[in-house]
Parts: sequence; C-alpha cells; structure tokens
Amino acid sequence: MNYNKKSVTDVDVNGKRVLIRCELNAPQDEHGNVTDATRIVTAVPTVKYLAENGAKVIIITHLGRPKGKVVPSLTVAPIAKEMEKYLGRPIKYVPDIVGEQAKKAVAELKDGEVMMLENIRFDPREEKCEPELSEALAQFGDIFVNEAFGTAHRAHCSTAGVANYLPGYAGFLMEAELDAFGKALTDPKRPFVGILGGSKVSDKIMAIENLLTVCDSIIIGGAMAYTFAKAKWGDIGDSRYEEDKIEYARQVLERAQKLHVPFYLPIDHVCADKFSPDADYIYVDGDHIPEGRMALDIGPKTVGLYTDVINKAKTIVWNGPMGVFEFDEFSKGTTAVAQALAENPGLTIVGGGDSTAAIKKAGVEDKITHISTGGGASLKLLEGAKLPGMACLLDK
Ligand code: 3PG
Repeated sequence: MNYNKKSVTDVDVNGKRVLIRCELNAPQDEHGNVTDATRIVTAVPTVKYLAENGAKVIIITHLGRPKGKVVPSLTVAPIAKEMEKYLGRPIKYVPDIVGEQAKKAVAELKDGEVMMLENIRFDPREEKCEPELSEALAQFGDIFVNEAFGTAHRAHCSTAGVANYLPGYAGFLMEAELDAFGKALTDPKRPFVGILGGSKVSDKIMAIENLLTVCDSIIIGGAMAYTFAKAKWGDIGDSRYEEDKIEYARQVLERAQKLHVPFYLPIDHVCADKFSPDADYIYVDGDHIPEGRMALDIGPKTVGLYTDVINKAKTIVWNGPMGVFEFDEFSKGTTAVAQALAENPGLTIVGGGDSTAAIKKAGVEDKITHISTGGGASLKLLEGAKLPGMACLLDK
C-alpha cells in the first residue's frame, strides 16, 4: 500500500466542482438529533478549505445501513443542518442522488457554495460499486476528494469507483490517517509495539499475522488473551475464550517465538465471579485461574509489565481494550494503557471504538499522535490490507 497520496492542497480548486466523500455517519437519537458530532466536526476543515478557496463543493456521505432502499429516518437532512453549525456557511441539502433534482442543484452551485446529496446508500448500486452510478456521480465533479477514512475499506461507488473517472485527492483527515499509518507500518522508529485487545482472536487474526512481521513486540489483552492463555497454560477458569481458535493461538505463539517477537500475555488477572459490573472480584497471579472465576481485566503486575514495554517503544499502535472496559471496575487496565501511551513521546496511534473511548475517558486525547477516525478501516491497515478508498487516490 502506497501511503504517499496527493492532497487537496496539491491542486487548484478555485472554480472547480469538487465531489467530496465524507464520513458523516454520526449517531442520532430517535428524533434524528445528532448525539455525537465528532465525525461531522472532523470533516469540516476540508470542506471549509474547499469553499474558502472558491470550489463548488458537493458532499456525499452515507448514514447507517439502508441497504439500497430509501429509509426516511436515514435521510442526511439533519446531518447537513448539524454540519452548517460548524461550517459557518449554508449547506444546501438535496433530497436526490443523481436524478434531475441533483443535476439541477449541481448546475446552479456557485463558487464557494456547498451542497449535500441524499444518503448515497439509498441507491442500490452504491455498495455494489456499479460503474453506472460511479460515472453518474463523476459527472458532478471536476475532481474527487476522499475524506471518508471510516469507509475507506469499502469498495463502493462513492469511496473508490468514482476515482476511475475523476482524479482523486486526500482530504485533511485522510491525509492524517495516511501519514500516521504510513510512518508506523512502512518506516517505524523502533522498537515498534503492537497492542491488540478485545474479545475475540477471530476478529484480530489478520492483524496479528501482519503485526508479527512488522512489530518488535506484541501485547495482548482483553478476552482474546485467554484463548492464547488456554493454548499456553490451560487453567483459565471460567474466562471467555474461543475453543475453535486454540490451535491457531498455539501456532501464533510458536511463530512469534521463531521470529523472536516477544508476545506478551497477562501475568496476573482481575477475576470476577460473574460477568457483571457489580461482580465480586479477586486478583489472581500467574497461570492458574480457579474454576468459578473469569478474568475481566489485566492485573496490576501486567499493567506494570505492559507499561514498561510501552515506555521503551518509539512507535505504538493500539486497537482493542485490555478488559471489560464498559464496566468501571474492570476498566483500569485499559485506562492504564491509555495513560502509558499518553506519556510516550514517540508515535502513538489508536484505533477502534473502545480504545478511543478509553483515551477520551482518561482525558489524554491531546497527548496521542493520532486517533484514527475509522475502527474497521484502521484494523484493515493493521492487517496490511490495501484500502480501496485510499488506493484509488493519485500517488504523489
Ligand atoms: C462506520 O460507522 O464504521 C463506517 O461508517 C462504516 O460503516 P459500514 O460498516 O456500514 O460500512
């Protein structure tokens, strides 16, 4: 994957029609009010830049998963309204995608004006990346800007197909993602540490495979650690694990050894009597978790060990919590990792909803080099995959 892509600042946008794919899939309440505007706020700088530099700006986004049908509750009208507040200029919402109404609105758009097309996923051709829709969208623009990192792992008309017909550039957010992941995955300052957590090994298999080839050490937390623990030492009590991934876990441990990549598993555990926020818990040292107890977080010794490894690292990527982060009592390991990352002066990259939430809860967002805006997309990059929405942009 080439991370060196042309940016929106590499082209003169004055007087041009710019088709920009944003990731405005923001959570809403039952009345359509946006409950977390992060995705909207973070897309504003590029849209503002384009408008201020005289472009005619046509925004495309998806909202939810309407599966190719018009779902009135998933209209982007409230998203356009919300974005206006941060943009400081009007956004003309058009209840159409590539029909006559959309064509007319694009034709009437003046330099510096901004419009937004209806939810692109109302069109059944979008997710199939049908050339007919890609071409119809391309007719609206002179250039294409992709700002939707969160959807860059999808090969859809508006994320990739349209770049077959228009020159594609990265927006500021996309550029930040390219820059951070490019540095970490292609030319990392070493030691390079990969931290993976979360509940399932199966979700992270490809990322583990790839990180074993690029990292100097790997730290594992969350329930997935206990599939590895089961493979390695057996006594994991009632901790959750994936029976059908034990053999795979064993192979990974062997491969890590052969590659001389230290593969850290928890050395002590916070063990609860049930899966509940008010569970009774004890600390268990070492390799024998008693029956009737399940590990819901890494213990203090593990926090010490992991923090030491993190402190020595010059590049760190982190995806997935160390424990049941949503239960306060079992969020300490994850919070400690968030704090250790914040104190590291090297390149620190965080992806995935829970890890990002932990960073926010610890109040250390400003101390992290890069918090990715796409959970699924950033995991794909850790897997070493090419993202269609990035690969389609012009190389520098
Ligand atoms: C997301 O919310 O993760 C992105 O908008 C991608 O959505 P999708 O998983 O429906 O493609």
